[in-house]
Amino acid sequence: MSKGSFYITTPIYYPSDNLHIGHAYTTVAADTIARYKRMTGYDTRFLTGSDEHGQKIQRTAKAKGMEPKEYVDKIVAGFKLLWGILEVSYDDFIRTTEERHKKVVQEIFVRLHDQGDIYKSEYEGWYCTPCETFWTERQAEGKVCPDCGRPVELVKEESYFFKMSKYADRLLKHIEENPGFIQPIPRRNEMINFIKQGLEDLCVTRTTFNWGIQVPFDPKHVIYVWFDALTNYYSAVAGQPDDTLVRKFWPADVHLVGKDIVRFHTIIWPIILMAAGIELPKKVVGHGWLLLDGGKMSKSKGNVIDPTELVDKYGVDAIRYYLLRELPFGADGYYSEDALIQRINSDLANDLGNLVSRSVAMVEKYFDGEVRHPAGNDELDLDLIKTAGEVTEEYEQLMEKYELSNALAAVWRLVSRANKYIDETAPWILAKDEGKSARLGTVLYNLMETIGVITIMISPFMPKLPARIWEQTGLTEQEGAKVWDSLKKWGSYPAGTRVKRGVALFPRVEVDNNANPQTQAAVKTDKVHQDDESRYISIDEFAKIDLRLAEILKAEKVEKADKLLQLEVALGSERRTVVAGIAKHYTCEELIGKKILIVANLKPAKLRGILSQGMILAASDGEGLGIITVDPAKDIPGGAKVK
Ligand code: MSP
Repeated sequence: MSKGSFYITTPIYYPSDNLHIGHAYTTVAADTIARYKRMTGYDTRFLTGSDEHGQKIQRTAKAKGMEPKEYVDKIVAGFKLLWGILEVSYDDFIRTTEERHKKVVQEIFVRLHDQGDIYKSEYEGWYCTPCETFWTERQAEGKVCPDCGRPVELVKEESYFFKMSKYADRLLKHIEENPGFIQPIPRRNEMINFIKQGLEDLCVTRTTFNWGIQVPFDPKHVIYVWFDALTNYYSAVAGQPDDTLVRKFWPADVHLVGKDIVRFHTIIWPIILMAAGIELPKKVVGHGWLLLDGGKMSKSKGNVIDPTELVDKYGVDAIRYYLLRELPFGADGYYSEDALIQRINSDLANDLGNLVSRSVAMVEKYFDGEVRHPAGNDELDLDLIKTAGEVTEEYEQLMEKYELSNALAAVWRLVSRANKYIDETAPWILAKDEGKSARLGTVLYNLMETIGVITIMISPFMPKLPARIWEQTGLTEQEGAKVWDSLKKWGSYPAGTRVKRGVALFPRVEVDNNANPQTQAAVKTDKVHQDDESRYISIDEFAKIDLRLAEILKAEKVEKADKLLQLEVALGSERRTVVAGIAKHYTCEELIGKKILIVANLKPAKLRGILSQGMILAASDGEGLGIITVDPAKDIPGGAKVK
């Protein structure tokens, strides 16, 4: 049964350019909250969208020689593609160019005008087009935008104004009486100070361009893009053929936004709603920024990080985990690929991945794959069960406060506890003693149950992972997913289930700056395994790889590269040079005469100035490495094709 409704929104993004990892952070965080709410029984609605009007978009489109609508259509298609790649489960995507939205914006505007809250006057002041923000002379000191530091433009035009000042006291009272309205607290305090300094009436129309929603009674004016954009949260549910959605989901439970736009959401938006007689959203959460070493990400600095590339390289679950783990609630955090790799290797591959693979492997080894009924818990078991109980409770409290990073940290306490439980109970010793079989069965059962509890808790964060874990612990997705309700009751894992070992959940990412990238590509398992069709290749694709038998004739070290060897190999009568990252694993002498396999049609690449004309096949478990050798006794001639 539904526990009630829950409505969460992200900012609607400007389609002035493709989105970067900072935007992805906001949306993935909102998605995680939405998934958590759905999982815990709320009738959830998750809205995202695009903020398509305004001077900036019109100028950008013009610079590309396109009509604004044509331009935004293209970019917005890219947004949707990105959200698909990031497993973002939105229920509605609103575009401010849609009729359902325009209609509601115009209705509210006319209502405020008719009741005297919007009046005509003249605006003279400064405007930041990238931020679409008006500034006074004093605020735009030095003719730069106080928010983004870019130059502002002088604007002088006939405009309509919204009487924000009239509602300042009411807003202040609302914020003071509802401590949870703006979170976290430092942002609330900033906003209180801002309002106390006095609010000026807001210019809410422009006449010098036309890419916007027209003022119905004065069509040379278009409505200010922030007035237009903020209304999306309401129009998405109110601009429908009937009032089912608005009745069910308004007021929104939470607007999740970056700290840069908290002011718009906690001052302008509530005042528009107050004036229009519409209930205010329950909460606005302002999260921190994802920064790079050099500061903010920006196209002009050329330092934006493309989320699609990262997903291609590391997989969507790992990227989502990293983003949500790394940024503490409300605070800024720094992005670095090294830190991302570190998280994958330690938290995901080592802690979680090993817990699952060790546990499943032991059930296979000791009980032929079948999880036994537990037979009474001793002190160690009770301690594990107690930790699981505490962690689930803490997780729930933190998730309810949207403290995602802390919630993950709590789950990882249970992951560590479970790993320690394996060391403490030492199943491999129990397995040596026939008489301890029941005890061994209990230990392995408790591990399966703990893995289930962990999987449920991480599922809103890493949506593709649960199915892969359930598969290994022998449950169907439905059997696994229903565990949430029984999460607080130990023992919901069905004994008698057969487990099935699978590929590593998160193979370690090898960082090897020196090695031949060609060899590296072959030996590393750095691409996080995705359990979908895209991981397969067709026989035709495989046939494109020209694999040949070759013999190593010569090997020597490459200067100033302690991991590289330069090899001369023979493919029958043909001689080739290949540079390989194997110096840490082989001496030059032991390689001579070895019959090996090489990819003969790999595009030649220069490494340390040496042209490498192929790639040696090798196998690695992440630490050790062995080149693949072919049995010489079989007398297959050099250069033979491998099929
Ligand atoms: N269109 C407005 C929002 C209107 S909402 C009614 C806008 N769009 S935006 O595309 O410029 O940015 C939207 C949001 O993206 C930011 O508020 C923030 O939530 C997120 N982020 C953009 N860069 C970011 C980081 N580097 N780090 C974290 N979040 C970032 O403003």
